Amino acid sequence: MTQRLEPSELSQAAQLLRDGQLVAFPTETVYGLGADATSDAAVARIFEAKNRPTFNPLIVHLPDAAEAESLVEMTPDARALAQAFWPGPMSLVVPLKPGHGLSSLVTAGLDTVALRVPAHPLARELLTVVGRPVAAPSANPSGKISPTTAAHVLGGLSGRIAAVLDGGPCAVGLESSIFGGEPMQLLRPGGVTAEAAVAVLGHGLAPAKTSESAPNAPGQLSSHYAPEVGVVLDVAAASEAPHLGFGPGKAARNLSETGDLVEAASNLFALLREMDAVTRAAGFEHFTVAPIPGEGLGHAIRDRLTRAAAPRG
Ligand code: TXA
Ligand code: MG
Repeated sequence: MTQRLEPSELSQAAQLLRDGQLVAFPTETVYGLGADATSDAAVARIFEAKNRPTFNPLIVHLPDAAEAESLVEMTPDARALAQAFWPGPMSLVVPLKPGHGLSSLVTAGLDTVALRVPAHPLARELLTVVGRPVAAPSANPSGKISPTTAAHVLGGLSGRIAAVLDGGPCAVGLESSIFGGEPMQLLRPGGVTAEAAVAVLGHGLAPAKTSESAPNAPGQLSSHYAPEVGVVLDVAAASEAPHLGFGPGKAARNLSETGDLVEAASNLFALLREMDAVTRAAGFEHFTVAPIPGEGLGHAIRDRLTRAAAPRG
């Protein structure tokens, strides 16, 4: 049985995590599936619950940036990004310090780790009370649509995790941007745009190296965030199949009627789930999606949609 905990029951969630159990919790990006990052057994449960391919290292969550200094060697660029965007929707891949104490399952045996200080008040309070780094991928079965409500979490993982802490819907709605490497690269587009990072760094980002056999970010797995039905992108107007709109026009659902990319990002995963259901109910095998402009958050939205539309298996 998976317990649904209210914000007032946060100390119970913290105790479960300290006991090595899995607890899903809200962040401003998506719900995370948390486990004590210093415990091999706890982290192993994440892979079991999600059915996740084990070559993917996990993001470690901290209550504040100061905690990072005991785990990792912050590079000057990483420190600048941390100062500008933590707490917030950004993760940094940085070199580990000796004696860091993290489970090698979290890092997949790499000598770097992805760190994040989320801005969601419940997440920060939970991390403070737990008093240990918490590993947390998105709280969904591997390859499926990421969860932005507690109901989404329960829909995918009920019975497989100890509890979900319900903090309502996530405001950003897309996973964090991941920056890392020397020179600094954008490894996964997300809530903090490349343009915003370049403005802080005062120099450009290096092009990200990618490899299908050794993925560094979920981006490198081609099918991800996948609905059950097919997805056809960049269709300007609704035809026969159900249509997911962006901006004014006829559509079964709309990411943002005013064409606002921030609103579209926050609606994306919930509407992919709804479109999946609407499409199946209407007896179609796919739905269509309106073109999303490739600027600002549009890059991250297009990235997720491209994976949702990718060939399966
Ligand atoms: O918004 C988010 O980032 C959410 C919330 C829950 O915080 N978390 C999340 O975690 O999306 P996850 O585990 O689904 O994504 C982690 C990604 C992995 O795909 C992994 O490839 C990349 O971060 N990553 C982790 N450690 C890395 C490392 N040492 N080097 C390169 N990439 C790394
Ligand atoms: Mg994920």
